[in-house]
Formats: sequence, C-alpha cells, structure tokens
Amino acid sequence: MLKSKDHTVLVNGSPNPRGHTMTAVRAVLGALPEVMFNAYTLNIHPCDDCKLCHARFACKHDDDMQTVLDALKKADTLVLATPVYFGAMTDMMMRIINRFQQLFEAKFTHKKPFTTIKKLIVISTAASEDPSMFDGVRLTTRLLEELFSVERVHTLLLGHTDMIKNVSQTYEREIEAFKNEIAH
Ligand SMILES: Cc1cc2nc3c(=O)[nH]c(=O)nc-3n(C[C@H](O)[C@H](O)[C@H](O)COP(=O)(O)O)c2cc1C
Repeated sequence: MLKSKDHTVLVNGSPNPRGHTMTAVRAVLGALPEVMFNAYTLNIHPCDDCKLCHARFACKHDDDMQTVLDALKKADTLVLATPVYFGAMTDMMMRIINRFQQLFEAKFTHKKPFTTIKKLIVISTAASEDPSMFDGVRLTTRLLEELFSVERVHTLLLGHTDMIKNVSQTYEREIEAFKNEIAH
C-alpha cells in the first residue's frame, strides 16, 4: 500500500474497468486513489504535431488534458495502468502520453521542466506469455522517466492473461512482492 501522504494520480488506459489490468491495480493499491483518470472516457484530442508548443509553452487543444496536467503538477506518484495492444500501451493511453509532447518541448527546448514525479508505477497486462510483448511499454516508461526526472520506477508486467480468470489470484506472489517494492 502506498503511504497516505503520497499524492497519487492514476491513469487507467484499459477500456475494461473490471478487466485484468484494473484488477491488478486494485490488488496492488488496495483502494483506488482519489485522483483517477480513465483514458477511454476523457475528451482528449490527438497531438497532430502543429508545433505550437515548440514555439512556446501552449497547446491549441482546449480539452480534458488540462485537468490531467493540473493533477500531474501536484502528483508525487503517477500510476499508469494499461493492457498491451499490438505491442504498445493502448491507443487512448498513448493519446494522453503523446500530448506530453508539450511537456517534452518545455523541458528540452524551453529548458523549463513542467513538473517532476518521484515515483512512476506502471502496471500492464498482456494475453501473451512472451516477455518481449512488454517491450513497447518498457520503452515508453523509460521516456516518461526521463521526461519527469523520475526518482524511482516500478513496473509490474503480467502476461498470459488469456489463460487466466483472476489475475490477482494467479499472480498473488508477484503482486505481494510488488507491493513491498513500491512501499520502500
Ligand atoms: C486491440 C487489442 C490488441 C491487443 N494486442 C495484444 C498484443 O499485442 N499482445 C498481447 O499479448 N495481447 C494483446 N491483447 C490482449 C490484451 O493485452 C489482454 O487481454 C489484456 O490483459 C487485457 O487487459 P484488460 O482486461 O485490462 O482490458 C490485445 C487486445 C486487444 C483488444
């Protein structure tokens, strides 16, 4: 369980609120954090590389991304939960992450980092047993680690879900170990 003084933001990138990914998240976190976003219900436009944020810290889209960014600014811990879709985080999760391009420009072009995050927790599930199925998730996690100057990254990658009824039972030991890992 995360310490209560942690300000945690959860972004759920699964369209299934009771699916494998959110089952794993619930098992890890206990209660869901107060600040939680569902990628599939947010109104977020895709980044179309208009380059406005390259020129200055701004985005042409006026949508729910502003609420996500406001929450991120206050977050110590960011939890990203996503199934694997064709070797990557889901498209709706990636839509949010692609809008971080504004933050990428802020940090690397304008030299004014938007925010930092102490702890990044990534929880992902995939149907396949092949561990390389999570390569895309790992790479995106690494880019976010750099973007937010993350102090500690923790990833829980659970495969083989097509053969599993209850992910929290099948992976009970891994989830317990992960809970200890993120608590320290
Ligand atoms: C559009 C789509 C693409 C998927 N692509 C992959 C994939 O590339 N590799 C894989 O192992 N599983 C893939 N899956 C299976 C999901 O990753 C897996 O069932 C996951 O545990 C679902 O999580 P959820 O129950 O939280 O939605 C895909 C599922 C869908 C719907």
